[in-house]
Amino acid sequence: MSAAARRPRVIDGIAELREVVCERRAAGASVAFVPTMGALHDGHLALVRRATETADVVIVSVFVNPLQFGPGEDLDRYPRTLDADLDALTGRGVDVVFAPTVAEMYPDGPSSTRVTAGAVGALYEGASRPGHFDGMLTVVAKLFGIVQPDVAYFGQKDAQQVFLVQRMVRDLDLPIRVEVVPTVREADGLALSSRNRFLSPAERRAALTLSEALRAAEAAGPQGVAEVLAEAEAAFGASETVQPDYLVVVDPVTLLPVEPEASGPALVLVAARVGATRLIDNALISLR
Ligand code: PAF
Repeated sequence: MSAAARRPRVIDGIAELREVVCERRAAGASVAFVPTMGALHDGHLALVRRATETADVVIVSVFVNPLQFGPGEDLDRYPRTLDADLDALTGRGVDVVFAPTVAEMYPDGPSSTRVTAGAVGALYEGASRPGHFDGMLTVVAKLFGIVQPDVAYFGQKDAQQVFLVQRMVRDLDLPIRVEVVPTVREADGLALSSRNRFLSPAERRAALTLSEALRAAEAAGPQGVAEVLAEAEAAFGASETVQPDYLVVVDPVTLLPVEPEASGPALVLVAARVGATRLIDNALISLR
């Protein structure tokens, strides 16, 4: 079988993964890491592509982390599609897929040590999903400790997640470079997400509201924050299918809401429930 068509090796044990990484490092290889919860789409594959361009060994994790789902959220229905994920990764230069069980990651149940996301972790996604970012950072810290990569790749679609991971790496002095890869979109603008598969055809059409709101925000940027918010909110109209959760204009450096008179680069964050599915998206805009 040619190297290009090789299916990645699947490892489910922490000790075995560490051994493989140690061996490759001893031979002088650099390691890139792409953490995922599986249900891979082209957005994930863009992260993998960047990883293969920059390092000798590429490790992708597939782990649906129960710690980052709150009560009543979609942990049970979150898609688990390891075989299809391995097919998607075949021939893409991925060496190892680390797919541990929950018991392997949390042998004593929910781990007693948690990373806390701090004040920004309680805003936006964190306000709607209390504890989500503590759970996400805890598993990312564990995965970083297990894989010990030189570089890790995250998608810009999860802007708040990216911000918090970068801050954790800085605050805890983790020797890992975090690289952010632009959001991959469908031709009509919908940001790729593992949750898009839950959308009915009508919901799929309605979900375009998020990217349309962001486009409206971008166009209104030169007129200032109030106009950005007004135009983006107008894009939501009175749809019953799409229930907006938050729409905020934030400083990309602090992730805190900008002042009404702000100018320069800003990030617009949006979240909405489309039917039973919660979607998020964001765009970098230029104010005034
Ligand atoms: O973005 C995700 O898929 C998850 O939050 C991550 C980073 C893999 C942690 O579980």
